[in-house]
Amino acid sequence: MPAELKAQTKVQAHIALGHHANDRRMWIEMIVYSIILLVVISGYYFVQSSPFTGRTINRIFADLSMLLIGISLILSGVCYFWDFADKYIIYRKHIGLVGVCYMILHIILSVVMSAYSPFPGYYLEDKRILSFIAAVLGTIIFSGMAVISNRFAIAEIGPQLWRNLMRFGYIGFAFTLYHFGAKGMPYWLPWFMGESKSIVPSFGLIVFLFGIVVLVMRVALWISTVKKSKLA
Ligand code: HEM
Repeated sequence: MPAELKAQTKVQAHIALGHHANDRRMWIEMIVYSIILLVVISGYYFVQSSPFTGRTINRIFADLSMLLIGISLILSGVCYFWDFADKYIIYRKHIGLVGVCYMILHIILSVVMSAYSPFPGYYLEDKRILSFIAAVLGTIIFSGMAVISNRFAIAEIGPQLWRNLMRFGYIGFAFTLYHFGAKGMPYWLPWFMGESKSIVPSFGLIVFLFGIVVLVMRVALWISTVKKSKLA
């Protein structure tokens, strides 16, 4: 059974049990958890003695959005291989959409803040243009996914095509990993080599490594489903 179909089947099973009964409560829960995560990430930046500027706030929003979108994507794989996270699968949409809201905050700050001015000249400089193109592609894909993340869209598009379109999320995720990974890598490598003054890694590196796990999980899932379909 394809991964998304298995995840969707688990969502339906939870809906049948009435676990989604209060959609409003689920939104509130997700927003509250995201704020807790926001505080934790801010604490991490504080421990690293990062100056608390608008730029740091922008990075925190970006990291949080990437984590939430990554959690939403990885849930299909986790629920395909194991059962322990089944009860969280019904939150997949809420986690992803709250992540997209933080993504929008990150983009707004990246456009209006003087640290990145002039817009768009700042992003069109040779050293940033590829990262910017990857960011724009990621933004288009995640925005498209957000638009079709509702029952009306599933009914209009049809479940099969809808599941296929949702797979673009992993491509968007790979683009976004490139968007900040290309810039971050020169700063992260010294930490791996033990040449950095900081004991803890930059939070961007943690997000990047988590992002790699999300993509590896998707590849593992793909291999597993291909093997199963050959055996069938
Ligand atoms: C056109 C859209 C986008 C623009 C203009 C943009 C701009 C930026 C800029 C300027 C930075 C560097 C921040 C700094 O070091 O001061 C950055 C980093 C980052 N962006 Fe974006 N971004 C865009 C889209 C996205 C999207 C769609 C995501 C993910 C959902 C994302 C996630 C990140 C992450 C995780 C970082 C690294 C934060 C860190 O340093 O830990 N960005 N972006």
